Amino acid sequence: MSVQQARRIWTRPHLLALEDLSRDEILAILDTAEALKEVSTRSIKKVPALRGKVVVNLFFEDSTRTRTSFSLAAQRLSADVVDFSVSTSSVSKGETLRDTVRNIEAMGVDAIVIRHRSSGAPGLVSRAVQCSVINAGDGSHEHPTQGLLDVFTMREVFAARGKKISDLHVAIVGDIANSRVARSNIWALTRLGARVTLVGPATLCPQALGRLGVEISHDLDAILPQVDVINMLRVQFERLASAAFPSVREYTRFFGLDRQRLARARPDVLVLHPGPMNRGLEITTAVADGERSAILRQVANGLAVRMAVLYLCVGANATGGPRGSAGESGAAAAEAGANAAVGDTAP
Ligand code: CP
Repeated sequence: MSVQQARRIWTRPHLLALEDLSRDEILAILDTAEALKEVSTRSIKKVPALRGKVVVNLFFEDSTRTRTSFSLAAQRLSADVVDFSVSTSSVSKGETLRDTVRNIEAMGVDAIVIRHRSSGAPGLVSRAVQCSVINAGDGSHEHPTQGLLDVFTMREVFAARGKKISDLHVAIVGDIANSRVARSNIWALTRLGARVTLVGPATLCPQALGRLGVEISHDLDAILPQVDVINMLRVQFERLASAAFPSVREYTRFFGLDRQRLARARPDVLVLHPGPMNRGLEITTAVADGERSAILRQVANGLAVRMAVLYLCVGANATGGPRGSAGESGAAAAEAGANAAVGDTAP
């Protein structure tokens, strides 16, 4: 769909969870990202779409990829970006999350990008402020932009082979129980019609997850020959309440992806990992850096996806979206600039 069509479909000020989104809303983001990806190939990597807007990164957990790509995404759309430092803020004096975000918003902020260890924190923030709120990962709940960039990467790779997302069988492997990435992948992939199999030890991949419309397996070797995509997840030791497997060595033996195990898969299988990787544990260096891996392509695509999310959420606010003020000066110009910059491409 064109960017104009995407803007008509996308009316939300926030992106909190992929579970909430319709198929068309997911496609609106993916198609807008496809149009915006071109901006990063220009010598001057900037369009005026969000000129005059302010985006605050509010990360209560560490991040390499998500924080940096949200910052770059906002800058490429000409927004001003503030990286809020939680460790040196008044949070250390006991200020509540609600007070923190209301004070930040009082300084004239248009969007808060939040990562928090507690599931549901972005939703709480969205009810406390008037500006847009984007979930950059909350506890073990969701990591919507990671799910979107994973699906975007699959769509891009398999389009070149004449396949759609609905033609794919995707294995998500590892620590599913603690994974916000897995949940966001499941919602996006199933809504777009993919077949999804979750693979892991019973302690990290319980049968109950089958209620999400996916298949469950505890045998990676049996699943590998059947799938188009293997999305390897990080074992999240920081979230394991107790030992979920007897030893790291045993986990690697049954659920780690090395060259020998990869040989069981289809020759054109696509290997993904959201990062950060535990190299040598869930994935070996030979596979992570090998020819079937699209791990760095995922990171590159994350920038386009986050540009699309900011453009749709903050742009919708600017031009009379649910929280916006229709007729706000500059809004029409920003929209015109954005549309001219991204073009009206029909993927
Ligand atoms: N995939 C991901 O969320 O990475 P970061 O923790 O580095 O942001």
